[in-house]
Amino acid sequence: MTVQALGYLGLGASQVDDWMGFATRQLGMQAVDRGGATRAFRMDDRKQRLIVDGDLANGEKFFGWEVADAAALDALAGRLEAAGVAVARGSAALAAQRCVAGLITFRDPAGNRLEAFHGAQVADEPFRPGRDIGGFRAGPLGMGHALVMVPNLQECLAFYQGLLGFKTSDFIRVPVSAYFMHVNPRHHSLALVEGPVSQMHHLMIELYSFDDVGRGYDLAQAEEGRVKVKMGRHPNDFMTSFYMRSPSDILLEYGWGGRDVDDATWQPEEMKTVGSLWGHQGLFESIGDGPPPPDAPPMPSQKIVRAPLFVMDGNYVRQNGVCPWWDAMASGA
Ligand SMILES: [Fe+2]
Repeated sequence: MTVQALGYLGLGASQVDDWMGFATRQLGMQAVDRGGATRAFRMDDRKQRLIVDGDLANGEKFFGWEVADAAALDALAGRLEAAGVAVARGSAALAAQRCVAGLITFRDPAGNRLEAFHGAQVADEPFRPGRDIGGFRAGPLGMGHALVMVPNLQECLAFYQGLLGFKTSDFIRVPVSAYFMHVNPRHHSLALVEGPVSQMHHLMIELYSFDDVGRGYDLAQAEEGRVKVKMGRHPNDFMTSFYMRSPSDILLEYGWGGRDVDDATWQPEEMKTVGSLWGHQGLFESIGDGPPPPDAPPMPSQKIVRAPLFVMDGNYVRQNGVCPWWDAMASGA
């Protein structure tokens, strides 16, 4: 696999100071001083993950896709150029801004600015969250996932899968065409949805503690209009999450408990619904400018699905089964 993770995301924003408060006090990221009109935020041991650039126009953005090393970056540049994609080598100054050893820049078939990089710098200081949270599930899984609407889905799929090495986790064709793709065990680092325009819908960041997501929900609800999509659970990555308005033109999905995929055993499946197991009221209204599509799945879902929780060592206490009812249900009887 060529690309290994969503390493960073850059957003153009006129409201950089709004981002300071939102990223630190609401999301729990750590602000780092980058000078000028740039604000950068840490989520883990990396020097920066989210970059808000006041010199970039509102709506502009860049995606930083991580590769293993300089040789992998050269190989990727060669593959892109052989396929007719215009590739520029990032200058030393740009690499310093991005806190990486080297990078290339290019565009996907929908016009999104992509950067591929290697050698992300690790900070000398430990991560200090902007509010009291137990940390972000980032590291080798990357900073989270992005959902991007593109008008030319098939062309984009050929690009991301054929040239960058993304693999399908699952997909849906009705009522929307969408592909959820992974580059590491995170269920998806990128979701592409066919839509009328090229537009990023949301960035998902994942917390280690479900309680941190709940407290973030409390904080967001205290602000008029901050919550765009209520708490709910997705049917494919099983993320329990809610969505907030950000100071830029994207939403921020704040989640917990996403499942991993293992390439050795994973079989991509066509999903029959993108309706959540429960909750997420407002999700379809949040896509595009108009009313939700008439064939948007009903909420609550008419099909009842119960899925197990995906937990990590140190983050759960196993309780012994003491109830014949549960034992029978868990064994599928
Ligand atoms: Fe998402």
